[in-house]
Amino acid sequence: MRYGVAYYPEHKTPEDLEHDLELLINSGINTVRMGEFAWCRMEPQEGVYDFAWLEYAVNRLGQAGIKSILCTPTACPPSWLVYRHPEVLYVDNRGEKRPFGGRRFYCYNNAVYRDYSAKITEEIGKRFGKNPYVSGFQIDNEPAQEASGRCHCPACQEKFGKWLQKKYGTIEAYNRRSGNIFWGQDYESFDQIRIPVNTIEVSAVQALPVYFENPTLRMEFERFASESQIEYQKIQEEILHRCTDQPVTTNGTGLATNSIDYYESTKDLDCYGFDFYPGLRDACVDSFPYAFARGIKEGAPFWVMEFMSGGGHKFGGTGRVQPNPGALQQAVVQSLAHGAEMMLHFQFRTFPFGAEQLNYAIVDMDGVPRRRYYEMKDTAALLKKLEPLEKAGFDNQVAICVDYAVHWALRIKPVNDPDFKYLDYAGRLYRILEEQGYNADVIGYDADFSKYKVLVLPSAFVLEESKREKFRNFVAEGGTLLATFLTSVKNGDNVGYTDTLPAGLTDVFGVTVEEVEPIFAQNRNQIRLNLDGEEFLSADGMWCDLLGGTAKALGTYVTDYKKDSMIISENHYEKGTACYLGTDLEEEAMGALLRYLCQKSGIRKNAVKAGSRLEVVRRVLEGEEYYFVFNFTAEDTVVRTEAPMYDYLTGCVYEKEIPMKRNGFAVLRRTS
Ligand code: GAL
Ligand code: ZN
Repeated sequence: MRYGVAYYPEHKTPEDLEHDLELLINSGINTVRMGEFAWCRMEPQEGVYDFAWLEYAVNRLGQAGIKSILCTPTACPPSWLVYRHPEVLYVDNRGEKRPFGGRRFYCYNNAVYRDYSAKITEEIGKRFGKNPYVSGFQIDNEPAQEASGRCHCPACQEKFGKWLQKKYGTIEAYNRRSGNIFWGQDYESFDQIRIPVNTIEVSAVQALPVYFENPTLRMEFERFASESQIEYQKIQEEILHRCTDQPVTTNGTGLATNSIDYYESTKDLDCYGFDFYPGLRDACVDSFPYAFARGIKEGAPFWVMEFMSGGGHKFGGTGRVQPNPGALQQAVVQSLAHGAEMMLHFQFRTFPFGAEQLNYAIVDMDGVPRRRYYEMKDTAALLKKLEPLEKAGFDNQVAICVDYAVHWALRIKPVNDPDFKYLDYAGRLYRILEEQGYNADVIGYDADFSKYKVLVLPSAFVLEESKREKFRNFVAEGGTLLATFLTSVKNGDNVGYTDTLPAGLTDVFGVTVEEVEPIFAQNRNQIRLNLDGEEFLSADGMWCDLLGGTAKALGTYVTDYKKDSMIISENHYEKGTACYLGTDLEEEAMGALLRYLCQKSGIRKNAVKAGSRLEVVRRVLEGEEYYFVFNFTAEDTVVRTEAPMYDYLTGCVYEKEIPMKRNGFAVLRRTS
């Protein structure tokens, strides 16, 4: 595993630099990431380059066995560039130009900025592409972060009109497909179309409620913004790939921002990289982001380019609590268990200055190594022992299917706001499956479905015809599909289907949606589930798609006017089974439903028993089963196993119970 930290040699006096390099070298880590905000040092004046300081650090570290990931610095254009070319500045959804200062204040569509970005990337590629101590490149830093993924500048405005024209051909076609007749909004030409100004922009000010704009226009702007950023990234990607044989990627923000479709954006990158800042004090680290990351680029490993390092101060006034002793190491091993190939802490030594002054790091401002440094050092040593297991594969037979069009559509027209959040909901299903003993993959709609026995399809609000045929075929060929409320409501134009819902799939599910409403405290009702004779009661939640049709009812209402109406269905369609869950369920009932489907489909269950704060991850290596087990409870505890396990690190053999320390983990091989 590539393990290390982000580091900033450009901040340092020569003495500090030597001090830090020594510490880095003595820590046993093998990777350092540098350069992402240092354009003003790399090119202090236009066309005058200085990479000697960076090369010195790369070579010093490299000679001591530490490889560097170098970043292009385009998140922070230098002042000379911005003051000479103010047109490169980002314009937010209020029409405000972001001034120089802060970071990510550029427009990714601006031609001038694209040229300058290409030039600095070329220089970096030329200088470092073949450096034996450089083991990869990162493009920019967190594209779209800090609400920089939906520029509204004149260049974007003009390009968006042309983009729509290219997609729709004629303005008549655009008017018809987007339903512009509603509120009499037909256009005469594409250049009349303005970027929808209220488009969701994380943490930006929204002057008007967002839902007053045409949903098709807003969806198209999401697509346009995503494509534009990918186009910008591609300029750098192509240059770097020309200059180096090392992997090239960028650091996405995982589930945090949503203006880039990562399934698309990673097509030409060598892997998906992302940043992750979970709490590590008596906290259960959510592995859904890892499962999501693993599915972004099928077949390639993923990189965690930035990860938590400690507590203390943070951006804003809240501060951040310190990790428990052992929690950093536990988290690193957890990322490995889920398939991470890189794990870099952000960052090595606390900054005395700048917007992130005093913030958490591995080493405090005074440069004195303390417990977090020693924990990192131990972890580096431990990872060497675990190296053989990195080759282990995943053979999960259940997957959760997610999609950006759905993600965007549910932001554009929120449902049960703010309780229902699409990716959080997918994450909830993932965790419940895991607690039931089934590790799940998280995949896009374009992924290969053939290796799965069960697919869970949360709220496919937008489901294009071609995609829904893929799900139909999955069932026809013998798979089990569980779709949840709000499935196949709208087409790819973000316009409602006029067929009965779930549109185009009523035969597959054997149901029709008869009535819909959100579920709030005031209209909550009880449901009875009958799963092969076993009964469960649950309240409904989030939403209700009341079902009619010929399918077998796995769940019906027991209260209110809905009494006896079907809310969970099961239907045999050709060789497979399709179930529709018209609402959300409480934890226990949801667990029972998922377990029922996995059992019926013959999915093998993990031999080590998971719990709500006990994670179990199954891997397979050379035909043998390995289990990574993590104790996120606040106490030492015991985990049960159904098969004897050999402890890979201690050599102990456990027959029925595995002792686990607080913030502890075990790596086990099944022995029978
Ligand atoms: C990330 C960013 C880093 C740093 C970190 C918080 O989002 O990429 O540069 O700002 O957050 O400390
Ligand atoms: Zn722009």
